[in-house]
Amino acid sequence: MNTPSPPPPPQAPDEAAPVFRRGVRSYVKRGGRTTEGQARAFETWAPRFLVPFQIDPLDWSRVFGRDAPIVLEIGFGMGEATAQIAQTLPDRNFIGCEVHEPGVGALLKRIGEQGLDNVRIVQHDAVQVLQHMIAPASLDGVHVFFPDPWHKKRHHKRRLIQPPLVALLASRLKPGGYVHCATDWQPYAEQMLEVLMAEPALRNTAVGYAPRPSYRPVTKFENRGLRLGHGVWDLVFTRL
Ligand SMILES: C[S@@+](CC[C@H](N)C(=O)[O-])C[C@H]1O[C@@H](n2cnc3c(N)ncnc32)[C@H](O)[C@@H]1O
Repeated sequence: MNTPSPPPPPQAPDEAAPVFRRGVRSYVKRGGRTTEGQARAFETWAPRFLVPFQIDPLDWSRVFGRDAPIVLEIGFGMGEATAQIAQTLPDRNFIGCEVHEPGVGALLKRIGEQGLDNVRIVQHDAVQVLQHMIAPASLDGVHVFFPDPWHKKRHHKRRLIQPPLVALLASRLKPGGYVHCATDWQPYAEQMLEVLMAEPALRNTAVGYAPRPSYRPVTKFENRGLRLGHGVWDLVFTRL
C-alpha cells in the first residue's frame, strides 16, 4: 500500500522578494498626539522594554533573560489586548511590533506600571522585523488582531494578510506554532481565510473560522462593534 508522502517543509520565502510592491506599506504614519503620560513612559520604560530595530536575527532568549515560548504581535495599536494577554500568559514571551508612536507609549506605560517583564516592543515595520530580526522556525505564535482593513479596492494592496506575508510568517513559525488573526470586516475575513488556506505550510485548526480563543480579550473597541451588531471573525492556523 502506498503511504502518503509527508508535506514538503515550508520554504522560507526569498528574502529579496518584497512582501509588498515598492513603496506600498500596510500602514500610514498617522498623526495623533503623544500624551504627557505616554512621553513619560518613553523616558522611564523605553530602556527596559524597547528593542531597537536591527538587520540581524536577535537572540530573544537573551533579550528576555529566559527561555520561553515566543509570540509576536503585529500592530498592537494601543496595546490593550497585548498587556492583558501577557498578564494572562506569564510563561510566554511577547514581542509587539507597532509603528504608531502614541500606541508604543501607551503599551510602555501599561507594561511598565504592571511590571510585565514578558513583553518587549519593536517600534518598526513588522514586515522588516520578521524578515531581519526573527530567525526561521523560531516563533511559537503570531497574533494579528484587527489589522487595518483598507476598505477601498485601490488600497487592498496594503492589506497585511496576503500570500507573501503569510509565507514569511509560516517560515518564522516553529512546526506546531500558530498564527491567529481576527477582524471585524467580513470581506477581509474572507480574504484571510482564502490566503491562509492556500499556504501549504499551514493547517486550519477549525472548519472555516475558529471560536475566539479564551486568551484573546474582547477589547473596548470590539465590544462597541458587537453592541452595534457587527461580527468578529477569528482564524487560527498551525504550521505543519
Ligand atoms: C486597526 S489597528 C488595530 C490595533 C490593535 N491590534 C487592536 O486590535 O486594537 C492596526 C494597527 O496596526 C499597525 N500596523 C499596520 N501595519 C503595520 C506594520 N507593518 N508594522 C507594525 N504595525 C503596523 C497600525 O499602526 C495600527 O496601529
